[in-house]
Amino acid sequence: MAGRTQLFIRIGRIVGIGQPGWYGGNRWSFGTVANAYMLVRDGRICRIGTMDTLMQSLLVEADEIIDLGGRWVLPGFCDAHTHLLFPATREEEWLMRLRGYTYQEIARRGGGILASAQRFAESSDEALIEGVLARLDHLVRMGTTAVEIKTGYGLTVDQEIRAVRLLARVREQTRLTVRITVQALHALPVEYRDARQRYIRAVCEELLPAVRDYVDFCDVFCEEGFFTPEESLEVLERAVQLGMRVKVHAHQFGRTGGIEVARAVQAVSVDHLEHLDEEDLVVLRSWRTMPVVLPGSSFFLRKPFSPARRLLDSGLPVALASDWNPGTAPSGNLYFIWHLACAYMGMTPEEAFTGLTVHGAVAMDIEGGALYEGGVATFQVVEPVQSLAVYPYEFGHIPVRQVYIGGERVV
Ligand code: NIG
Ligand code: FE
Repeated sequence: MAGRTQLFIRIGRIVGIGQPGWYGGNRWSFGTVANAYMLVRDGRICRIGTMDTLMQSLLVEADEIIDLGGRWVLPGFCDAHTHLLFPATREEEWLMRLRGYTYQEIARRGGGILASAQRFAESSDEALIEGVLARLDHLVRMGTTAVEIKTGYGLTVDQEIRAVRLLARVREQTRLTVRITVQALHALPVEYRDARQRYIRAVCEELLPAVRDYVDFCDVFCEEGFFTPEESLEVLERAVQLGMRVKVHAHQFGRTGGIEVARAVQAVSVDHLEHLDEEDLVVLRSWRTMPVVLPGSSFFLRKPFSPARRLLDSGLPVALASDWNPGTAPSGNLYFIWHLACAYMGMTPEEAFTGLTVHGAVAMDIEGGALYEGGVATFQVVEPVQSLAVYPYEFGHIPVRQVYIGGERVV
């Protein structure tokens, strides 16, 4: 038998077997196999079967036999929207919001993204990298094996270039798959308060050309109080002209035009979508994109949730992500996101599972999120349950016991 082989035996159930892809209405009819074994060769799955069909020869020839003792196997989660490169938590703003201030009011008083940006500039490279690596460690223990990370707390051209460099270093120091997004517009830096157009020009002419070869995507925050659709479009068109693929933060606080902007540049994903009407659904169906919904920020801000049920019923797919950031979603727990998707957005456990796995992978354009022969052996070993719904039902509980990335045990 050529190559290094690992034989995982006595798997209670393997869930998420099938081809990765874009499934309208999240109708991914993934397979499951109970009482299973899985053969992995050089980090790739080469056979899945039931224990009663396991040939004695495999047991003899495998380099390593791993007895999972009835635990279940799920694909690693693919978190397609995070802002993990931040200098510090902002719990003082959370306390202000509990006293009645809104997210936008806090931003206007110099808190929010601007406060993080100031601390970002004052922080050392080492401290920032350590912070991200610690969060990645936390994520993988919760079953996440691939993650998109946005810059966005640099704000100035120099600091944003630094942020991209730091993320490139992070990528080399982790086993997780990392996609890097330059958040080209996040908040207007204080020093540009009276010079918006000059800032947009600096982003287009200095920042984007400098980072184009080092990032996977370019994103903008198109929202009232942040950037207009015209400004967002100007930046994204420039990004496209430079050969970059784009994403948009759209309709988080209102119907502020971000979906039209996303269409104009054929965004790979359109993220947030808390505020939608019928016309928006029509526009979203007009090109092949992945809506990414972020119930963690709605929960934390106590704001409306994205109407994911309506997206699905109109035939669109939905990916679910954490949005982990210090201002609006200070958690990367995708098991809790799974619960929120079912409890507040009308998704079934299976639809939400699809959103956390294959659709997260599509939103990042990576391999992963599904288990199939020939696919990468990246998966979580979880406590066995009576049915898949138990995972989102037991909110707050993390059932992860082991994690493998490309056949290598990382947890
Ligand atoms: O997705 N686009 C805004 N970014 C975050 C919030 C960032 C912050 O408050 O630090 C979001 O909600
Ligand atoms: Fe975000």
